[in-house]
Amino acid sequence: MARKKIALVGAGQIGGTLALLAAQKELGDVVLFDIAEGMPAGKALDLAETSPVEGFNASLTGGNDYSVIEGADVVIVTAGIPRKPGMSRDDLIGINSGVCKTVGEAIGKYAPNAFVIVITNPLDVMVWVLQQASGLPPERVVGMAGVLDSARFRYFLAEEFNVSVEDVTAFVLGGHGDTMVPLVRYSTVAGIPLPDLVKMGWTTQEKLDAIVQRTRDGGAEIVKLLKTGSAFYAPAASAIQMAESYLKDQKRVLPVAAHLSGQYGQDDLYVGVPTIIGAGGVEKIIEIELNDEEKAMFQNSVDAVKTLVDVVKKLDAEKS
Ligand code: APR
Repeated sequence: MARKKIALVGAGQIGGTLALLAAQKELGDVVLFDIAEGMPAGKALDLAETSPVEGFNASLTGGNDYSVIEGADVVIVTAGIPRKPGMSRDDLIGINSGVCKTVGEAIGKYAPNAFVIVITNPLDVMVWVLQQASGLPPERVVGMAGVLDSARFRYFLAEEFNVSVEDVTAFVLGGHGDTMVPLVRYSTVAGIPLPDLVKMGWTTQEKLDAIVQRTRDGGAEIVKLLKTGSAFYAPAASAIQMAESYLKDQKRVLPVAAHLSGQYGQDDLYVGVPTIIGAGGVEKIIEIELNDEEKAMFQNSVDAVKTLVDVVKKLDAEKS
């Protein structure tokens, strides 16, 4: 069987990490695209030269022409600009919506059969822009946010409880922004829901609330420390988990920014929800029961995403 092809559009901090992880896991051959001249080819060559040492079989190449992504099975998009300290994800919208439109058109032309994972921020609206421009079916265009936000939540919880990260499950819904909704009662340690752990005296409600807030601010915490850009290791690892579930038809249950067409009472909107990712892309959107408080938080998050979609529509109207 021929190797799969993984195209990475954007070969910056996240793109380079994606390339290394995809190659090390032997998910397929990797091609990097970027507008920075020579850079994707240089990164690809540097990474390819790790293969004899690391012992993986995958070809890595890069280029500045969109044709390099031709026939890709998976495309992961990080093209655009990241945040600097003091910026919100939403501040990136003007530049990154133009980038995602161009990238979407190129994917429609060169890789119409791919499963596409968008990472560029502000995430939920960027994946909407890209899907529209690509013409690909919505079940094959998703955004990476929920896996990362849940990973941050899980990490903070594991630290608090002094248990393995592997035994902590966590659920984050909604848009990838300050309004994201970490679902405390659906998050567990070895199956025990967090509210029960508070009752058992493992932690306090105050500590749990602080962890929820730290999860919401997880991206900003890293931007503040790095000063010159935003997080890249955990975002890359999260997108690779989604790509792997698609390529190997694992049918993992993962929170992703998926296209809603009636689910959760929303229409033609991308927002973070639990899904099953398999060979068909988003094979199912799982609709969980939300209580009134969770519904209100989810709606607040949805409204924030809708506001940004309207901003993009307005920018588009001004251009034409
Ligand atoms: N087409 C292709 N690549 C582009 C384009 C474009 N039109 N515009 C910019 N790029 C490239 C840049 O040259 C750069 O190499 O996108 C890359 C982005 O890389 P970084 O600046 O290192 O940013 P990174 O940390 O990888 O984040 C990328 O993901 O999490 C989000 O908010 C983050 O939107 C940002 C994106």
